[in-house]
Amino acid sequence: MTKEQVNHIQETRRILKQFSRKRGNLIPILQEVQGKLGYLPREAMLVIAGFLGIPAIDVYGVVTFYNQFRLNPPGKHSIRVCLGTACHMKGGYIALDAWKRRLDIDSGETTPDREFDLDTVACVGCCTMAPVTVVDDKPQAQVEPTKVDGILLSFELEKEKASKENL
Ligand code: FES
Repeated sequence: MTKEQVNHIQETRRILKQFSRKRGNLIPILQEVQGKLGYLPREAMLVIAGFLGIPAIDVYGVVTFYNQFRLNPPGKHSIRVCLGTACHMKGGYIALDAWKRRLDIDSGETTPDREFDLDTVACVGCCTMAPVTVVDDKPQAQVEPTKVDGILLSFELEKEKASKENL
């Protein structure tokens, strides 16, 4: 077991101390653990299942059913593609497809270097800017494939600059 996994188990056990062993506590427990760890790793789900006395598959079923839960660690940068009605009409899926291809991951996944995670959201309230992608909590307007390239390029340049400054 890695140091990270041991740490996840310890944090999960610490959180469980605030809860009674009622199945109805499953969702609040998952929210709390995800809030602390950033996602729900396998080892945390096993500890939770043991604590509530339910099969691990039930915990996994709930985690995969609700959009709010993540099975993968978050990336350094979060990419949220809006698929609300206005964005959908203006090509939200084209933007999503461009992000998927450029990052080489699916929605709900994180790049292997943990730089980016990709997900979809419902309307974020700036429909006049459609199609919108929320990048690190900042809504970006009219995100078409070329803009996806531009955003990724700016991250690359930023990273390059930071690594030069650290030399
Ligand atoms: S539908 Fe995307 S911001 Fe409203």
